[in-house]
Amino acid sequence: MRQKILIAKAIFPDVVARLSQQFDIESNQEDRLFSHDELLAKLRDKDGIYATPSTLIDAAVIAANPQLKAICNMAVGYNNIDLDAATHAGIIVTNTPDVLNETTADFGWALLMATARRITESEHWLRAGHWDKWRYDSFLGADLHGATLGIIGMGRIGQAIARRSLGFDMRVLYHNRSRLSADREAHANNAQFVSKEELLRSADHIVLVLPYSTATHHSIGAAELALMKPTATLVNIARGGIVDDAALIGALRDKRIAAAGLDVFENEPRFHPDFLSLSNVVLTPHIASASEATRRAMANCAADNLIAAMAGQRPPNLLNP
Ligand code: DGY
Repeated sequence: MRQKILIAKAIFPDVVARLSQQFDIESNQEDRLFSHDELLAKLRDKDGIYATPSTLIDAAVIAANPQLKAICNMAVGYNNIDLDAATHAGIIVTNTPDVLNETTADFGWALLMATARRITESEHWLRAGHWDKWRYDSFLGADLHGATLGIIGMGRIGQAIARRSLGFDMRVLYHNRSRLSADREAHANNAQFVSKEELLRSADHIVLVLPYSTATHHSIGAAELALMKPTATLVNIARGGIVDDAALIGALRDKRIAAAGLDVFENEPRFHPDFLSLSNVVLTPHIASASEATRRAMANCAADNLIAAMAGQRPPNLLNP
């Protein structure tokens, strides 16, 4: 009998077709999320689930579906899945690392430049018909070249962001759970390992690329924002819950930091409505990995993991300890 798979959110049709060759697929090709109850019900007869970052697979979903063999996430981040509960239940969990490193680093730079140089703010102003003359002080932003870049979370994406800073003659500071080897630091534009506090105090531009966990929840809050320079920009391409939104909104409103660029939000796709009233924040809908080629690579990587797990093999990107 063919194994049964739930594809929890619309993905590329050719990847669905690929999986359909060997599994019975129930695919959510509607443009909406399953509710928690729907997900519970739909998983009852499934052997595996192909998940995306908006598929919340918590302990309750896992407890109700002990027959599941694998949860394969189409993302490198997997904070939408209770890995401990899955491991305890003997369920394989996988993610899609590496294939998105360079694309996500490109986007980190795009967001950093848009934020520091006020690109979206000035475009909105132009579109609204306000531009009547050149002015010496229109939309003055902060330089990137020659500035100090701070990277919090120096995994593969953080290192790819650091490498790109060479072309901007930047000094790079980083903070990470552990220090990189001297060789890796050298390849990351001679990045210098510092405490989080020193990074927050010294960097002109800060990019968050660390994984989300209970330990990193709101790890950028009022106290951390207070350490930053009033001219600094903060970019988050990691996960929303890392930043305390209320504290960030206060800091942006009072100009205690200059600007922020956010691709991720706590409880997305919902986000704090007060962001919309601020002109010094650039908002994008979780698209850092969204190039055509990379999203296809992620989709196929998740499919490879699922196919291996269902065949009883070790999937290439196993997360369980
Ligand atoms: C990831 O892979 O975790 C990204 O955030 C999804 O684009």
